[in-house]
Amino acid sequence: MKSHLLLAMIGTFSVIVGAQNQEGFISLDCGLPIGESPYSDSYNGLRFTSDSNFIQTGKIDKVNKDLNIILSRQYLTLRYFPEGKRNCYSLDVTRGTNYLIVVSFVYGNYDGLNLDPNFDIYLGPNKWTKIDLKGNTNGTREEIIHKARSNTLDICLVKTGTTVPLISAIEIRPLRNNTYVTQSGNGSLMLSFRVYLSNSGDSIRFSDDVHDRIWSPFLGYSHSQITTTLNINNSNSYDEIPETVLQSAATPKNASAPLIITWDPTPTNAEVYLYMHFAEIQTLETNQTREFDIILSGNFNYSGFSPPKLKVFTLYTEAPMKCGSDGCYLQLVKTPTSTLPPIMNALEAYSVIEFSQLETSPSDVDAIKNIKDTYRLSTITWQGDPCLPRKFSWENLRCIYADVSSPPRIISLDLSKNQLNGSIATSLQNLTQLQELDLSNNSLTRQVPTFLASMKSLSLINLSWNNLTGSVPQALLDREKDGLVLKLDGNPYLCKVSSCNPKEKTIFLLSAIASAASLLVIVVVVALIFVFLKKKVPSGKSRAINHYRIVIN
Ligand SMILES: *[C@@H]1O[C@H](CO)[C@@H](O)[C@H](O)[C@H]1NC(C)=O
Ligand SMILES: *[C@@H]1O[C@H](CO)[C@@H](O)[C@H](O)[C@H]1NC(C)=O
Ligand SMILES: *[C@@H]1O[C@H](CO)[C@@H](O)[C@H](O)[C@H]1NC(C)=O
Ligand SMILES: *[C@@H]1O[C@H](CO)[C@@H](O)[C@H](O)[C@H]1NC(C)=O
Ligand SMILES: *[C@@H]1O[C@H](CO)[C@@H](O)[C@H](O)[C@H]1NC(C)=O
Ligand SMILES: *[C@@H]1O[C@H](CO)[C@@H](O)[C@H](O)[C@H]1NC(C)=O
Ligand SMILES: *[C@@H]1O[C@H](CO)[C@@H](O)[C@H](O)[C@H]1NC(C)=O
Ligand SMILES: *[C@@H]1O[C@H](CO)[C@@H](O)[C@H](O)[C@H]1NC(C)=O
Ligand SMILES: *[C@@H]1O[C@H](CO)[C@@H](O)[C@H](O)[C@H]1NC(C)=O
Ligand SMILES: *[C@@H]1O[C@H](CO)[C@@H](O)[C@H](O)[C@H]1NC(C)=O
Ligand SMILES: *[C@@H]1O[C@H](CO)[C@@H](O)[C@H](O)[C@H]1NC(C)=O
Ligand SMILES: *[C@@H]1O[C@H](CO)[C@@H](O)[C@H](O)[C@H]1NC(C)=O
Repeated sequence: MKSHLLLAMIGTFSVIVGAQNQEGFISLDCGLPIGESPYSDSYNGLRFTSDSNFIQTGKIDKVNKDLNIILSRQYLTLRYFPEGKRNCYSLDVTRGTNYLIVVSFVYGNYDGLNLDPNFDIYLGPNKWTKIDLKGNTNGTREEIIHKARSNTLDICLVKTGTTVPLISAIEIRPLRNNTYVTQSGNGSLMLSFRVYLSNSGDSIRFSDDVHDRIWSPFLGYSHSQITTTLNINNSNSYDEIPETVLQSAATPKNASAPLIITWDPTPTNAEVYLYMHFAEIQTLETNQTREFDIILSGNFNYSGFSPPKLKVFTLYTEAPMKCGSDGCYLQLVKTPTSTLPPIMNALEAYSVIEFSQLETSPSDVDAIKNIKDTYRLSTITWQGDPCLPRKFSWENLRCIYADVSSPPRIISLDLSKNQLNGSIATSLQNLTQLQELDLSNNSLTRQVPTFLASMKSLSLINLSWNNLTGSVPQALLDREKDGLVLKLDGNPYLCKVSSCNPKEKTIFLLSAIASAASLLVIVVVVALIFVFLKKKVPSGKSRAINHYRIVIN
């Protein structure tokens, strides 16, 4: 069974039209020019948008049009990354939600070099898998089911050799939270295959499948197919298996032989999760029975199973399975009393991938991203997780890595000589473990904010060579006594220590005098007007009062 499905086959879906619920879906056509975004796929109605709002780096191009393959629209353009070792998409997700994440890559000789690239992809700080496009002329795709650990999902492409990483499409679909979960609760599931047992030529996905899982047709050489056009109740507490997937099933050609399915998990010793979907789609006579044992060699024997009539039944492994060195061997064996051979409608197999590395503390991530946006910083390394993996941690910041069970924290930030302008960003105060802050040699203006004094972990603040104004908060100056190193040189308009306090008072006094003076002028003017009006318009006292009020206003 092939785990890399041919992308070209995707074009053969039956035409589906109509408004479908794509709530929570993220469908990015990488490299799509903004002017052509969004569009709806003519086959399945999926609404694709350009990726440009989710990544700041990379260049866009199109596959070579002389390419002799049929591609769905989302694979015609791509984004490639000639610069930087790691480039990341940053996507908004909901923490705790289980997502189906699909990434697709079609090289299509876009650069005319005929050099199939290979590179790694990461999910946040963890390596997901290696992508090698050699021999995959039609492209390749990777799928994973992963529970979001924060409200941001970073998908990163990492250069591993000399070739240039690229990506064609990113598709993210929310799943139910209680399905496709590993026993430990923190493993992710990498797709080995997802098939419906049929000799059809067409894959099934959205909108037949509300979660947009792609079901490929598969029928082994020893299998024969049975089908129905009757409706099948696909509601179970597990997940919504499309009716079209359930309307066909495989049965052994030799009615007394078992139905056998084998595959090699990757890696060979991977922990495997299986999801088997059954429905009785034949009309059984009263003297007919179908009963079989479902056996995964070395793992389980679920005996005496009969599929419910025209209703889905999902049998899945709650704990991880391990197949032998010869691969996984699944057999469905007719029980001696059964008159009919076993059947199976659909099957999904996944390998567990443990992402053990925790992401950097979400509050630090939010704060540093806010600082990045505030100052429009475009440092190429400032993508993905700030602290992890260590070899790709952001330039000019340092992190502390206490132990594997606590998320890394940012402890030092050096933004000197970055042409920062505007005021000192308030989000700095959310970097609660920050020890060293260097903002020297920029063009920062406005006051030195008081919040710096309450950032207890700070031991060095370098604000020298900026254009800060006002007076330095007393609370901050007080912290120098506790050992805080505060550098303020080269801010010509900044008032340091108590020397600037009298100046402030003077300014206040002057403005007070000024206000008093202007008030006096107004009073005199009003008085004059009042006198004038009283003389010229003796009648209508109330009118005079009106005038008086208007003048004051
Ligand atoms: C690519 O897809 C075409 C059909 O579009 C097929 O004939 C060809 O064998 C595929 N190539 C590979 C390497 O899978
Ligand atoms: C899954 O769980 C998350 C967090 O607990 C919640 O926000 C989300 O709505 C849930 N999704 C579904 C489909 O139940
Ligand atoms: C999974 O998470 C639990 C608690 O959240 C933790 O104790 C356990 O070590 C984790 N397992 C792995 C393999 O990371
Ligand atoms: C499908 O099965 C569910 C659960 O057994 C049941 O509640 C529902 O009524 C069934 N739907 C139909 C159309 O029979
Ligand atoms: C059918 O399967 C049974 C049991 O596995 C076997 O004994 C028999 O030889 C098979 N018949 C044919 C024609 O292959
Ligand atoms: C079941 O009954 C039908 C008639 O209703 C008969 O033709 C068939 O041979 C029977 N099959 C078995 C296995 O007894
Ligand atoms: C599976 O279990 C059934 C019933 O307990 C038994 O008859 C059968 O031999 C078992 N099969 C295997 C391969 O262990
Ligand atoms: C900083 O923290 C406060 C309080 O936790 C929060 O309301 C605010 O959104 C945070 N700001 C940033 C940029 O993270
Ligand atoms: C900072 O500089 C940029 C361009 O140099 C300018 O667009 C922006 O308005 C400036 N921001 C402030 C707060 O002065
Ligand atoms: C503060 O910044 C200035 C200018 O970048 C630099 O020369 C100086 O060494 C820094 N001081 C400390 C203590 O880091
Ligand atoms: C500030 O940075 C510029 C280069 O960006 C450098 O030429 C200058 O010497 C620096 N000034 C100080 C005081 O470090
Ligand atoms: C510093 O700010 C003052 C006014 O606050 C302004 O006149 C001056 O041009 C600024 N200098 C630089 C180098 O930005």
